[in-house]
Amino acid sequence: MKNIGVIGGGLIGASWAAIFSKSGFNVFVYDPFPDVFDTYKSRVTSFLEELKSIDETINVEESLNRIRENVTVEDLCSNVEFIQESAPEILSVKQELFAKLDNLAPEEVVIGSSSSAMPISSITQNLKGQHRCIITHPANPPHLIPCVEICPGENTSKKTIEKTKEIFTASGASIVNVKKEIDGFILNRLQGALLNEAMRLYSDGYASSDEIDATIRDGLGLRWAFMGPFETIDLNAPGGIKDYISRYGPIFVEMAKNQTKIPDWSEEAGEKLELERRKILGHDELEGRAKKRNQLLKSLRKVKIDNGEA
Ligand SMILES: NC(=O)c1ccc[n+]([C@@H]2O[C@H](COP(=O)([O-])OP(=O)(O)OC[C@H]3O[C@@H](n4cnc5c(N)ncnc54)[C@H](O)[C@@H]3O)[C@@H](O)[C@H]2O)c1
Repeated sequence: MKNIGVIGGGLIGASWAAIFSKSGFNVFVYDPFPDVFDTYKSRVTSFLEELKSIDETINVEESLNRIRENVTVEDLCSNVEFIQESAPEILSVKQELFAKLDNLAPEEVVIGSSSSAMPISSITQNLKGQHRCIITHPANPPHLIPCVEICPGENTSKKTIEKTKEIFTASGASIVNVKKEIDGFILNRLQGALLNEAMRLYSDGYASSDEIDATIRDGLGLRWAFMGPFETIDLNAPGGIKDYISRYGPIFVEMAKNQTKIPDWSEEAGEKLELERRKILGHDELEGRAKKRNQLLKSLRKVKIDNGEA
């Protein structure tokens, strides 16, 4: 396996190009909007530089030389063994694209989708090549957050799953195998549960958006960088997880009874939150803050690696 195709030159596609090229793969990139490539190289370069600050063995120039940007979709399909699709999160766009890729790519080519929430069977229903299609979902930014969810559909073949795992292992991913199809997979279901509760607490007036953020930023989130919810509660009672469940389980059962209301995701709620957020972070400061986020993520990855945690 030498060549990977990346479909979509946006935020996620550019990050995949950095990941696959630094891992030694040749990368072919297609996007139907050529303007994307005006800033593409500088974006991928900055991602590779961020990666290099975690792993100094990465050669940015050599990695860039392995990327062929702005190829046609036909060229891409005839040159690669694996395709990572990162087009917009719109079902009809992905369905059309997968149908095209299934027609153009030789039979042995595996096709993965970065979709944030759509089961692969909803994208590929009626396709001849359903067996070679699979979800390969990253978190943003993929080059700094190693978790990749691999979620096959009922018709995805074992061979496809194995080939996909090989590629992502070779690219340094931390693979989460999702055993059954579900919208949102694991990552966005967990994120969704937290976001939905944050929205309920906010719109019911329990705290400001920044104070809700602070409970994660200065509270739960500090632990979550190196342990998940089950390990957290395993350490939060002297006798381990079983002890925790017998002491505190009833609290969570009670809370679950009133955590069922569909939260307010309306435009008005968005406007109110927008006003609150823009007082804290101006529009012109968003990009700088995203850069700072990446800087902090890099430092965190280093700390984990230096402590044998990654
Ligand atoms: N942004 C995130 O936080 C995040 C995280 C994980 C997964 N994802 C998923 O990754 C995918 C891409 O998201 P993004 O954030 O990179 O979006 P983006 O808007 O930055 O990039 C999408 C790219 O797809 C291109 N495109 C448009 N129509 C296309 C078509 N028909 N065929 C091929 N390319 C087309 C656009 O020109 C653009 O460059 C989505 O499925 C999204 O859900 C996003």
